[in-house]
Amino acid sequence: MQNLDSQKLSETLAFIQSKTSIRPFAGIILGSGLGGLVEALDISLSLSYEEIPHFPVSTVKGHGGKLLFGTLNGKQVVMLSGRFHYYEGYTMQETTFPVRVMHALGAELLMVSNAAGGMHPEFHVGDLMIINDHINLFPEHPLRGKNDEKYGPRFPDMTEPYQLNLVKQAKQIAENNSIKLFEGVYIGLQGPTFETKAEYKWLHVIGGDAVGMSTVPEVIVAIHCGMKVFGMSVITDLGIREEMNTITHEEVLEAANAAAPKMAFIFKELLGQL
Ligand code: HPA
Repeated sequence: MQNLDSQKLSETLAFIQSKTSIRPFAGIILGSGLGGLVEALDISLSLSYEEIPHFPVSTVKGHGGKLLFGTLNGKQVVMLSGRFHYYEGYTMQETTFPVRVMHALGAELLMVSNAAGGMHPEFHVGDLMIINDHINLFPEHPLRGKNDEKYGPRFPDMTEPYQLNLVKQAKQIAENNSIKLFEGVYIGLQGPTFETKAEYKWLHVIGGDAVGMSTVPEVIVAIHCGMKVFGMSVITDLGIREEMNTITHEEVLEAANAAAPKMAFIFKELLGQL
């Protein structure tokens, strides 16, 4: 088994390039309830996933299901509005296929966002966290399989998947605009259950500040492609408090929606500075 179907990638690319000549500088993936950035995008082309050859179709409430091209704060970008989660039943290759497409279209930078559960004791619902590192707890690896060196190395280095200079720059933007912003480690696991109390505790003990069901596979593939990565989590629920309540998808979406404008602002400003 190959870890990438290059034939499919070429066909998807040919279709998209027959619709637009945009060469995006960055690819942006919007997480649950974080669609706010779409409003800031000057859209030149919108493709629904159904019409793109070999693109999976999103099944989760709150996910838009569109590949958007346009300009954001002076930079050409391609935006995935609605991502593909492993828990939906997609393979790791399907989950990460859009990242391959973004890179093949020319994107040098991947900006990812997600909704996540907070484990850091200082976190509150609605806080923002820049991802400065991750722990991969997915049961399957997106690069498993025969590797074609043309698309990336067999053993990618992961010492700094999230560019620390971008972390610094984003923190500066937040400080200049009085936005409270944390940085920390994101743990990615498959879901779709939220964590038990014991699991949240354990995830914190092993070094996690936030936990979610996405992002890590996409970032691994971006690194494989040689892209730079910047990521942010919106803390939508808290895992390690005594008073911890039950968590629902609706609450997660509500908290993400409320924090989305702050996150969109940081993405936009950062992009403008690059
Ligand atoms: N756990 C896992 N995924 C999540 C959470 C969580 O608490 N919140 C939002 N996505």
